[in-house]
Amino acid sequence: MDWLIHDYREDDLAAVVHLIDTTAELGQESVFSIAECIGALTTRQPTVVAVSGGVPIGAALACVTGERAWVMRVAIAPAWRGRGLASALLKELERRLVAARVRRIAYVLPEEELLGEGLHNAGYTRRPAAAYFEKTEPASGSVTGPLEELGGRLLPGDLWAKVAGMETEKDLIERRIVLPLAEPERAARHGVRPPRAITLFGPPGTGKTTFARAIASRLGWPFVELLPSRLADEGNLAAALRTAFARLAELERVLVFIDEVEEIAPVRDGRPGRHGVTNELLKLIPGFREGEERLLVCATNSVRSLDPAFLRPGRFDYLVPIGTPDAAARTAIWTRFTAQHDDVDVAALVAPATC
Ligand SMILES: Nc1ncnc2c1ncn2[C@@H]1O[C@H](COP(=O)(O)OP(=O)(O)OP(=O)(O)O)[C@@H](O)[C@H]1O
Ligand SMILES: [Mg+2]
Repeated sequence: MDWLIHDYREDDLAAVVHLIDTTAELGQESVFSIAECIGALTTRQPTVVAVSGGVPIGAALACVTGERAWVMRVAIAPAWRGRGLASALLKELERRLVAARVRRIAYVLPEEELLGEGLHNAGYTRRPAAAYFEKTEPASGSVTGPLEELGGRLLPGDLWAKVAGMETEKDLIERRIVLPLAEPERAARHGVRPPRAITLFGPPGTGKTTFARAIASRLGWPFVELLPSRLADEGNLAAALRTAFARLAELERVLVFIDEVEEIAPVRDGRPGRHGVTNELLKLIPGFREGEERLLVCATNSVRSLDPAFLRPGRFDYLVPIGTPDAAARTAIWTRFTAQHDDVDVAALVAPATC
């Protein structure tokens, strides 16, 4: 035999991670991400490492849940493929699993990477009826650091799908805003610059806040709402805005929402106090625009009450009208508000008024 197989030791970490990382590109993929593999290594899940001439050439790792174990990855250095090393590693791994009272060992592999006859020879049976399904949920729950201090959070992943009707707005926002931000490289290939700031305008209750939240949900970015009333509580609104934007700059990615932005940036009519706040926001926007993976969404019922300088080209990429809710949106809204009452004729409420 040209190799020695030993139990994973802490000083193998870098080499094993390197093996997993480099071989993933060669098709030795797995349904377990590299982060999950590192998690298993650091929590000392069963792992074996093959070494030749003092150099790690392969590794096999598993995670155990009760009587079942999942083979997470068998990674073989390219020069050592096709020489029986995968089978040897798997056999050693199995010995450790059986010693840990495992009764069933599962190995989920991409269709094209079935290790030839190796798995059959090693006693594994393919479950023909099994298909692997996976759903990615954005992380939720507690967040820490600047995001928590700003009152921000990750929203559920389905808010975009829950926006009913409004196909024109949805289509526009998807093509101009969501896709360029979600796929910046593709956008660059087509000469599209991802937006950094947009303003949604429309009458009250037409779904501006709903859309802002849905965009954050769709992108999987944290949502931070800057509430003028909350910022004003800190005394000096302009200074509070400056501090909030400084904290926002610390976040890797974020959607910042300012509702009723005309309260912060009203037409500068010479009244004391308001001037400074409008100026401050105008100064902060260019800095915010320099970051990638960030989007400022402002909403207003009244574009006319906004300071004209606020809407000058260069500050906002798009002014998006959010029209009155269409029939599908009205149905969703009425259905939500009448959920407790089954005697309500939602269709009659949704139908356009005839008088
Ligand atoms: N297209 C839609 N699909 C489902 N629900 C919707 C839709 N549009 C609006 N709603 C619901 O209607 C209510 C009002 O919407 P929202 O708060 O987003 O409006 P808004 O334009 O932000 O209002 P305001 O100007 O008063 O801030 C919310 O409960 C929202 O969930
Ligand atoms: Mg709103």
